[in-house]
Amino acid sequence: MNEKHTEVLIVDKVVENLHKSMEIQAAAEQLKSGEVVAFPTETVYGLGGNAFSDEAIERIFQAKGRPSDNPLIVHIADKSQLSEYVTSVPADAEKLMEAFWPGPLTIVLEHSGKLSGRVTAGLTTVGVRMPDHPVALSVIKASGLPLAAPSANTSGRPSPTSAGHVLEDLKGKISMIIDGGPTGVGVESTVVECTGGKTIILRPGGITKEALAQVVDKVETDPALTEKNTAPRSPGMKYTHYAPSAPLVLVDGDIEFFNSQIQEAEAQGRRIGILITEELQHRVKAHEQVILGSGNDLSTVARSLYDSLRTFDKKNVDIIFSVVFPETEIGSAIMNRLRKAAGGAIRKQ
Ligand code: TXA
Ligand code: MG
Repeated sequence: MNEKHTEVLIVDKVVENLHKSMEIQAAAEQLKSGEVVAFPTETVYGLGGNAFSDEAIERIFQAKGRPSDNPLIVHIADKSQLSEYVTSVPADAEKLMEAFWPGPLTIVLEHSGKLSGRVTAGLTTVGVRMPDHPVALSVIKASGLPLAAPSANTSGRPSPTSAGHVLEDLKGKISMIIDGGPTGVGVESTVVECTGGKTIILRPGGITKEALAQVVDKVETDPALTEKNTAPRSPGMKYTHYAPSAPLVLVDGDIEFFNSQIQEAEAQGRRIGILITEELQHRVKAHEQVILGSGNDLSTVARSLYDSLRTFDKKNVDIIFSVVFPETEIGSAIMNRLRKAAGGAIRKQ
């Protein structure tokens, strides 16, 4: 593939009439001509392309090195856009849109066949979401298109929560990045399917199971997310993901157990990195230490998770140990990403 010049345009996300700004108009022009553009959402940066165009979608898969059987999420700015490419919206899905859009919730719906088949990877369904970020919404509005947008990272790497992360992975591979500053939530949207009177979580994310259960009855989590031998219903969940370069191992036990893991690895002459909370940082010692946030406020941990994982690529470590978190509220999404980044490696006390 030819090396591209990657232009980075900085936008001030609080200006009025953002969609008329030069930067957003430039992004819209690129998108209308079939190019792909990275832009911030409230979760992570996305790499957007025209969801009707096979050529644009092919560019997204190429730039990311993404397996072609993994479908993309379609981003919209207005619910009226939906009727064109989904066949029906179940009552529960409607309630969830009402409660959480715009926001970090992707809803899987039957599609009408009008979108590029590359977006849906041959499935009969499509995941749709309305992001809660002024830059994402203005890019969609200005382009007048539904935008297919996976996270703007190289496949398998931690998702990007800043324009710098996007550059690290995709410089020379895409023509434009809209830099709207760091993202807020830090982990991707929750992906759900509403079928047979149930809401099934296919990927835990920014909207928690507890929050969903306040709006609809019978919220379940796809069992394949925790069972090793079942195929997940969300194709993307089967791949190792979010992984830093050095192997990551989760440590499930008290602080003495955590320290014993460090000492054992040290005795083998390994350089050790740790992912730790603010509260525990002074009770452990390793060669490199990255603080994830406060164990008492897991939204801070979610926000810094991917940046923390990326930080270790610049530090020379042989192994990374991470603390674990309770799997309630946003902790479910954090643990899902940590488990995938660790490729399932966990040491229990
Ligand atoms: O927060 C987000 O969702 C970000 C931002 C950019 O919006 N996007 C994102 O996209 O995380 P991506 O492509 O990295 O992850 C999409 C996930 C994958 O696990 C994929 O398999 C799943 O959604 N997915 C997409 N369409 C699906 C469908 N029709 N059925 C089941 N899972 C689907
Ligand atoms: Mg992704």
